[in-house]
Amino acid sequence: MSPETRAVERPVVLGIETSCDETAAAVVARTDDGGTDRILSSIVASQSKLHERWGGVVPEVACRAHLETILPVVQESLAKASVAREQLTGIAATYGPGLVGALLVGLSAAKALAFAWDLPFTAVNHIHGHVYAVRMAHPDAEYPHVVLVASGGHTAIYVSRSPLELRLVGSTVDDAAGEAFDKVGSILGLGYPGGPRVECAAKDGNPKAFAFPRSGFGAGSFDFSFSGIKTAVLYHCRGQNAPKGGALRPDVNVADVAASFQAAMVDVLVERTLAAAAAFRVPTVAISGGVAANGALREALARRAPRSVRVCIPPMSLCTDNAAMIAGLGARRLDAGLEDDLSIEADPTPIRAEV
Ligand code: KG4
Ligand code: ZN
Repeated sequence: MSPETRAVERPVVLGIETSCDETAAAVVARTDDGGTDRILSSIVASQSKLHERWGGVVPEVACRAHLETILPVVQESLAKASVAREQLTGIAATYGPGLVGALLVGLSAAKALAFAWDLPFTAVNHIHGHVYAVRMAHPDAEYPHVVLVASGGHTAIYVSRSPLELRLVGSTVDDAAGEAFDKVGSILGLGYPGGPRVECAAKDGNPKAFAFPRSGFGAGSFDFSFSGIKTAVLYHCRGQNAPKGGALRPDVNVADVAASFQAAMVDVLVERTLAAAAAFRVPTVAISGGVAANGALREALARRAPRSVRVCIPPMSLCTDNAAMIAGLGARRLDAGLEDDLSIEADPTPIRAEV
C-alpha cells in the first residue's frame, strides 16, 4: 500500500460538542498503526462569562450562544487543523446527555454538514467521550479501565473493557461533584463556576480545619452522595436557620472552609474510585470530566493508588468539555461500522447500565 493511499484511508473525523456551556469542534486523525489519536485541532468557546451573572448555566442563553458560535468554531477547527472538508472521513457529534436545547444545536449542525458533504455520521455519548479521553491521552494504558467521570452534571464510576465498551458501576444519588463545588463556591461568595474558584481559595486554607462529612453506602457500593457535605458547609457558613441566600457569618474563614470541603470531596471521590479498581481488579484507574481538573484530586489519586494500578489522568484540556474526545470516539465508532442515521435525536438522559 502506498503512503498516499494510507493517508486517504486513515480516519480524519470532525467532532462537535455542545452539551452544556462550551461550543466545541475538533479534528482528530488516527496514526498509521491505528492505535493513537492525533488531535489536529481542538477549539473550545466557553460561555462561562455569559452565565456568570446568573450563578449557573441558563439553558436558553446557552442555546442562543451555541447557535451564534457553532459555525465559526467548526470553521476555525478545520482551518487550524489545515484540513479541507474533502479530507474528512466522517463527522461525530454529542447526542446526550446534557441540556436538550444545547445538544440540538451541535447535533443538528453536524447532521446538516454530514448530509451536505456526504460523509458518514455517528452520534457520541458525552460521558463515553469523557471516558475515551483517557484512552486518547494514554493509548498504551492496559484495559480494563476504571474511570471516575466527575463533572457539573454527572458523577459516576465506569468499567471500560475496550474503547467502545462501558459499564456503569456507581453514581451519585443526588448532586454531581461539580455541582457541589459550584454550590459551595456560591455559598462562599466566590462566584461561578465554583470549582476552580474553590480550588484557588483552598490553596491558602487548612484542609483539616473542619471535618465535613464523608458519606458512603458501605462496602461494595460505588455510589456517591454529596448533599450532606454541601448542607454541612451551608450550616457552617450561615447557621442552621439562615434564610436562603443569607450572608456569611462574619467569623467564617473562607480559605479554611474551601480547603476542608475540597478535602472531603477528594477523600470520597478517591476512596470510591480506588475501591472500584480493587473490586474489579483492573490494571488502570483514571479520572475525567471537569472536576478532574482539580489539582488536589489529581494529586491524591496518584498518591493513594496502590502500585499495582497505573493512574492515568488526561491533561486539563481533555478533562473539561471538549470536542476532541467526541471526534476520537466517533472515529472508533465509524471504524466499527457504528454509523448513525441522520434521524437520530438528542437524548438528555444519562447512561443507565452499559453501552
Ligand atoms: O465536564 P465539564 O467541563 O462540564 C460538564 O459536562 O458538566 O465540568 C464542569 C464542572 C463544573 O461544575 C466546574 O465547577 C467543575 O467541573 N470544575 C472543577 C474544577 N474545574 C472545573 N471542580 C473542581 N476543581 C476544579 N479545578
Ligand atoms: Zn462533560
